[in-house]
Amino acid sequence: MAIKVAILGYGTVGEGVYKGIQNHQEQLIEKLGDAVEVAGILVRDPLKKRDVQPGTFITTRFEEILAIPGLHAVFEAIVGKEPGYTYLSQCIEKGCHVITANKVLFAKYGNELLKKSKQHGVHIGYEATTAGAVPIIRTLQELLKVNRVTRIQGILNGTSNFILTEMRANRLSFGEALKLAQDNGYAEANPENDVEGKDAACKLKILCQLAFGCTPDWEEVEVEGIAAITSGEVQKAEAEGFRYKHIADIRAEGGKLKASVKPIAVSSAHPLFSVEGVDNAITLETSLAGNLTLQGAGAGKFPTASAMLEDFSAILEKSLRTKIHLLSARVPV
Ligand code: NAP
Ligand code: HSE
Repeated sequence: MAIKVAILGYGTVGEGVYKGIQNHQEQLIEKLGDAVEVAGILVRDPLKKRDVQPGTFITTRFEEILAIPGLHAVFEAIVGKEPGYTYLSQCIEKGCHVITANKVLFAKYGNELLKKSKQHGVHIGYEATTAGAVPIIRTLQELLKVNRVTRIQGILNGTSNFILTEMRANRLSFGEALKLAQDNGYAEANPENDVEGKDAACKLKILCQLAFGCTPDWEEVEVEGIAAITSGEVQKAEAEGFRYKHIADIRAEGGKLKASVKPIAVSSAHPLFSVEGVDNAITLETSLAGNLTLQGAGAGKFPTASAMLEDFSAILEKSLRTKIHLLSARVPV
């Protein structure tokens, strides 16, 4: 029987998830043992044309998505804290696994949703909230269990890095580069979140909670975007051997966490100097492994869908293993 899923939101990310599922059925069947069926798609505007297979169920009513019989998982790719938080809460209560790309929602309500998911025996995937295709959440969750992470420094906003790169390498104006980032589907619905540092700050909160299990007083954290950087400043830095990078930084210092999110002119000795275009990269300072840097596409349709589908596959495999374990525990010896 097909594994039924629903997609909430059919913009850049939702469409990427839909197409990723259609184009990777062979891999999904091999991993999960069954085909994956998109049993419903939630949108806001019923009149927009959607590139989906004929007969695909599209609705503006969330109750109709929730009522789909045998729904296994929901991919959430809408914008803002609400209605996403309410929808995900209801999906979890119904026993559905959820996979979200919504960092604004997760930075605010992640802990609550994770707690609720434990109570209801389901899983939450949130790799796509932070750094696009880069598997930073999984690395912190599963690959660094013994190491202590002492510092995280990252380029966490693809739009900002893309704009800075275009201003430097192709001498585009800020406005031209932002327009290109929007056309490519990198920017948020409200690009102020990207260029004023708020998007990167949400992602840093998510990483911080995972790596340190607590957070600094965010009211005191300096958050500055790239909106005020001029082409002249970018070119001057270039002539002196520096590049502007928008860097989110958090480190444990004297028993406290210190964080900042701001543009910095870095020299070629900096690990993030060569991270260009829409790429994100994160350098983790760790107690045993030393420095680890992960890099890859930080935004866009398919890189984001990749993170969501990898989460989905891992979650279904995990829940399948749990079922087998429970069944074998019941077999009399
Ligand atoms: P988008 O292109 O603006 O798409 C948003 C989608 O959500 C649209 O299909 C819209 O419906 C739907 N929607 C909005 N409000 C809704 C509501 N109240 N009820 C039902 N549907 C609603 O945005 P996106 O770029 O795909 O981003 C989606 C989410 O993923 C955001 O949270 C974003 O921060 C996150 N994200 C984006 C990227 C990226 O590269 N773009 C990467 C990682 C994470 P209509 O189509 O009917 O308007
Ligand atoms: N607008 C975001 C960015 C999308 O440019 O990084 C990925 O989270």
